[in-house]
Amino acid sequence: MKHAKPLQTLACLTMAGAMINARADRLPLPGDTPPSYRAECGGCHLAFPPALLAAADWRRVMDRLGRHYGTDASLDDPTRQTLRTFLERHGNPRLRAPADKSGLPKLTATAWFRHEHGEVPARLWHDARVKSPANCIACHRNAEAGNYSEQDLALPELRGKGD
Ligand code: HEC
Ligand code: HEC
Repeated sequence: MKHAKPLQTLACLTMAGAMINARADRLPLPGDTPPSYRAECGGCHLAFPPALLAAADWRRVMDRLGRHYGTDASLDDPTRQTLRTFLERHGNPRLRAPADKSGLPKLTATAWFRHEHGEVPARLWHDARVKSPANCIACHRNAEAGNYSEQDLALPELRGKGD
């Protein structure tokens, strides 16, 4: 049974992946995305696809917007409730997101994210053009349209890194 674990892990990742997107390079926002989602959550970073966290993790994010990863992302309560319900509805129950120091979940630290980005050289995550793994648009120039294909990678040295 010594070899069983990596296989199980791989099966889990594949299932989490399949639940996130039918085509690996497409991750569009759902059809019922409220307009306020892009407006309120897409100003400082990409309006992240809701399938990248579990419902319980989205709840944690949405219940602590006043202390949001080192900044203040507070919203009026009706907007917050609308977005919270939307994000929870589309959360992916298979994803386990490790928390940062303040207890907020990091979608960029899930096994799925690390698996998809195994080919990215470590130094690039903090390259001046990228700054942070959460800065999806720095590398995926069409991320706002849900497109993560290899041909749309912004940094030339990354092309050919897909699997
Ligand atoms: C005022 C700017 C601002 C607004 C508005 C904002 N965020 Fe953020 N968010 C940040 C910053 C800064 C980080 C940390 C990014 C990093 O680590 O590079 C972050 C990180 C995140 C992360 C974790 C990303 C990771 O690294 O895994 C999630 C999830 C997130 N935000 C969701 C939201 C949602 C949902 C909304 C809307 C309710 C929102 N954000 C609105 C600034 C903002
Ligand atoms: C440092 C650059 C970089 C950043 C930042 C980055 N990615 Fe990627 N990503 C890549 C590379 C390189 C690949 C592998 C090549 C490919 O398939 O596009 C990849 C692959 C992917 C894939 C799989 C695409 C496929 O064809 O299978 C998805 C989905 C994805 N990234 C989403 C994200 C999201 C969401 C974020 C932000 C939370 C993000 N990435 C941040 C570089 C990056």
